[in-house]
Amino acid sequence: MSGYDRSVSAPEHDLGPETVWHLQMPQIRFGRNAVEELGFQLADLGVDAADDPHGLVVTDETLADIGHVDRVTDHLEDAGYDVTVWDGAEREPSIENVDRCIEFVRANEGEAGYDFYVGFGGGSCIDVAKATRAVIANGGQVLDYIAEPTGAGESLTESGPPLVLMPTTAGTGAEISPVAILSVEEQDIKEGISSNHIRADAAVLDPTFTTTLPPETTGKTAMDALGHAIEGYTTHPFDGLLRASDPETRPVYAGRTELTEMFSEKAIQLLSSNVRTAVHNGDDLEARAAMLKGALFGAIAGLTAGASLCHAMAYPVGNRYHTYHGETIAVLTPASTLGYNVASDPERFVRVAEMLGADTDGLGTREAADRARAEYVRLQRDLNVVPSGLNELAGVTEEDVDWLASQTVETQQRLLRCNPRPVTEADAAEIFRDALYNWE
Ligand SMILES: [Fe+2]
Repeated sequence: MSGYDRSVSAPEHDLGPETVWHLQMPQIRFGRNAVEELGFQLADLGVDAADDPHGLVVTDETLADIGHVDRVTDHLEDAGYDVTVWDGAEREPSIENVDRCIEFVRANEGEAGYDFYVGFGGGSCIDVAKATRAVIANGGQVLDYIAEPTGAGESLTESGPPLVLMPTTAGTGAEISPVAILSVEEQDIKEGISSNHIRADAAVLDPTFTTTLPPETTGKTAMDALGHAIEGYTTHPFDGLLRASDPETRPVYAGRTELTEMFSEKAIQLLSSNVRTAVHNGDDLEARAAMLKGALFGAIAGLTAGASLCHAMAYPVGNRYHTYHGETIAVLTPASTLGYNVASDPERFVRVAEMLGADTDGLGTREAADRARAEYVRLQRDLNVVPSGLNELAGVTEEDVDWLASQTVETQQRLLRCNPRPVTEADAAEIFRDALYNWE
């Protein structure tokens, strides 16, 4: 098991490499007009319309204004479900934003809350829905479940009543992930509530809701999805990580397996071959469906195997400059995942290059592996909506690089642990420098 010293040979263990992997997912329902099966989905989760259950749809104002929310509530009402809409979810939601949703729930339904929840929208709406159900089911307030020192660090012990999530962007994978990401306003940081109890019971993915997504958001969320797929494909194999002392403590990001690799490969192909059409011709439902499916597959792979260096670097950038997550991933991927990490396993990156559409005929392994970066940058330039680097994204300069590097190494070990190549602070600084300008 050479090459994985940071994990398998950690000083405090006597366990050896991991031997078991595990996949936990919500029920998944996918396809055009899948919204029509929402009532069936709830019934399948044990919510019987004959019992007169009350449900809450958590969403945002934009989706309510353009009529998408009505489509959801109409189908629920037709199936006999009584629903209330809360459309106060905000972009990159704060703890206070979730607290407002929780107050709404308790004011209407008391401490027990609603009988079921539907999160409808982008990653923000979905995370507010996940966190709201979790806090109502476990009692107290959001901060009780945020890690110390920001919060009290209590564990969730209850999942609560059924939660169904319907994503309207093809990117974050929040509909299947076991985490809700919230910003802490006064501290300029983001914190996650991470637990299998916060995971939804079902994800209903209907591409007909995604055709109204503007080109910019389409491109940027796609880059997040592609990041999950490529990072998942190139992270540690699960048996290169330290064995969990018991199944309960096995990390959420547990390394790649043959199963996650299959999903990564399909995701990289679907996303990279459809994103140009989805951005430039948003009404193309086939391309939109391919993107939604690609994002789902990327999440199944990346959010199980583990996001790595690029996501680790993206959090300090997002915290300091309040940049959009997908856009941050987009500008950092060439220098990190497809630059620095290539040396960890060049042959694997040759396959990435080929899946992205690069022609590697007649090239040596390392040269072919480097084509992944060139092909990815070409794709970004074709989209017209991705900034050329950290400098254009947020005015980041050479002077900011050391601070970003120290933050990455000090605060993101959970993600760096999965990275296939060790990263020192000096390495991170060099990678940030490389990401200032991906093209002129
Ligand atoms: Fe991400």
